[in-house]
Amino acid sequence: MRSRIIGTGRGIPPHKLTNADLEKMVDTSDAWIVERTGIKERRVLDKSLATSDLATEAGLAACRNAGVDPATVDCIVLATVTPDVPFPATAVYVQKKLGAKAGGAAFDISAACAGFIYGLAIADGFIARGQFQRILVIGVEILSRIVDWKDRNTCVLFGDGAGAVLLAPEKDETRGILSTHIYSDGTYADLLNIPVGGTRAPISAEAIEARQHLVKMNGREVYKHAVRNMAAASKAALEANGVSPDQVAWVIAHQANIRIIEGVSERVGIPLDRFYLNIEKYGNTSSASVPIALDEAVENGKIKAGDLLVFSALGGGFAWGSALIRW
Ligand code: UT7
Repeated sequence: MRSRIIGTGRGIPPHKLTNADLEKMVDTSDAWIVERTGIKERRVLDKSLATSDLATEAGLAACRNAGVDPATVDCIVLATVTPDVPFPATAVYVQKKLGAKAGGAAFDISAACAGFIYGLAIADGFIARGQFQRILVIGVEILSRIVDWKDRNTCVLFGDGAGAVLLAPEKDETRGILSTHIYSDGTYADLLNIPVGGTRAPISAEAIEARQHLVKMNGREVYKHAVRNMAAASKAALEANGVSPDQVAWVIAHQANIRIIEGVSERVGIPLDRFYLNIEKYGNTSSASVPIALDEAVENGKIKAGDLLVFSALGGGFAWGSALIRW
């Protein structure tokens, strides 16, 4: 049985942090950020709220747009690197807040910026074997709580947000998720990470003093791999389905850097005007970026029934992947 996205939703914090605001915080400029990344502003979640709050907002919107009662959601797959607490899973808090089926399944997955695509792959497999009927796949990040606001190399890039899709079984074999491809390569694990806070290097006063509990990134290396691997994963999605680039209506790529997206566009041979772009408003929201962009594109009427969509993302791990969807 195929799975199909029957509803999309997003949760966007109202507070905007502009490049002009950042100019007052670190040695940077609006011109540098726009030219090097395409980002103009990003959102920051109010301190009184947590990851599960924003995820629930996105999940409820996806259910509402699908016309589905949240009580019938029998599985929640939530991708995040910024959970409410180390355990239990943020997904169980969402399950409760949403009023999803108690005794359904709810769990988190860790694949950084590729987390939503990993989640989609997992959920698609559950539906294929008939295990669940209404699965929410949520990508959500409150990156403002883990970025180093003194490090201009990273703090200008990231933002908070949540996106969700509701998956259901689809009898029409020509529609829905046609394939997913997921990959990782731990050789590069230390190029984008938080060095301490786990069992290898527990949190300590010294580690906090050295700011090792916050995001570290080798931007140039991540950039190179992002272009190469997102392009390769997108091509794999097309090849696996015998689809040519000109048949693709929209690419929903991870919004990390406009120049990465331009590089992917060139390599895959799909013009940039068929990539949905919203990076200037939100920055890099990691696992949330693909479902937020999808929800906006659906809401704006850009995506029509029958359209072929490519999703693609890469992030820490490195973990990356793609999906091909017939809407
Ligand atoms: O979600 C997946 C994970 N993340 C990504 O995909 C991000 C991937 N990487 C990137 O997007 C880019 O590498 C960055 C946006 C992070 C950096 O762009 P870049 O063109 O690779 O710049 P760079 O690292 O080569 O730095 C150029 C210069 C450096 O100065 P020097 O050493 O040449 O004097 C940096 O110190 O720009 C400087 N710089 C800044 N200047 C002003 C770095 N950050 C800033 C800043 N404002 N915020």
